[in-house]
Amino acid sequence: MLRQSVAGLGEALAALGRYGADATEVRRSDALGAVVPWADNHHWIDAAAVPVGTAAPPTGEHLPHCLWTSSGPPPGRREEPDVAMPAMALDLTVTGTEADRNEAGAVGTAELGEIGALNDLAYQQQALGPLLAAIPPGAGHGHGIRDHSGRLVSAAVALDVGSDTSVQWVVTHPDHRRRGLSAQLLQVLLAQARERGQRTATLQSSPAGFSLYQRLGFRTVGTLRAYVT
Ligand SMILES: CC(C)(COP(=O)(O)OP(=O)(O)OC[C@H]1O[C@@H](n2cnc3c(N)ncnc32)[C@H](O)[C@@H]1OP(=O)(O)O)[C@@H](O)C(=O)NCCC(=O)NCCS
Repeated sequence: MLRQSVAGLGEALAALGRYGADATEVRRSDALGAVVPWADNHHWIDAAAVPVGTAAPPTGEHLPHCLWTSSGPPPGRREEPDVAMPAMALDLTVTGTEADRNEAGAVGTAELGEIGALNDLAYQQQALGPLLAAIPPGAGHGHGIRDHSGRLVSAAVALDVGSDTSVQWVVTHPDHRRRGLSAQLLQVLLAQARERGQRTATLQSSPAGFSLYQRLGFRTVGTLRAYVT
């Protein structure tokens, strides 16, 4: 399932490049992602994933700042070891109990642009809001939990890539963390992916999310390392 996890990351990045303003999709056999010149030091925006089993592209071509790969180092780039990410996967064909967990309908839909804006707030940046807002409705499933005033406080996007659902841009507002919001939201996201007939779910974990994802049943299937120019 490492292959699916890496493909999911690549498709998520490629969507930023395909629809984002002043951004370009990178879609080639050895790299899938985006060139975003105005975010050219950002490892998760101006970035591409190298498909599993593929040799990384050589330097000197129109490629993003960061290449993510689970195999050997791309030539001419240096590793950023501190940001390496576990690739994680979950078999959705094993019956889960998630469908019962949308207590009082707390988990609803959210637009991708507002999910991007919440990520920007969490990471103290301004980049994902406009990039995700440009992705057309229907290209991804946005899930969210709101406070009593309707403000989005926890969110994630499910991107279906073949029979895999790639879980991306998972975030909870800093004032609302450690209350189980992400756990509840992801259980509903996974239940809905299963209902759509998806067979696996994959993601790439930050340190903050790792034990949460493990508790939901995700297992580490490899490591994605970042190589930058
Ligand atoms: C990672 C992140 C999304 C988690 O969101 P969250 O809503 O706080 O998640 P949860 O509350 O479901 O779980 C987080 C922790 O709180 C704990 N928790 C949940 N309810 C709790 C409660 N009532 N009391 C105390 N702790 C609680 C969970 O057990 C979990 O602990 P662990 O990390 O030690 O396993 C959030 O920290 C975040 O936005 N981080 C920055 C962005 C990021 O890293 N996103 C993930 C990208 S892959």
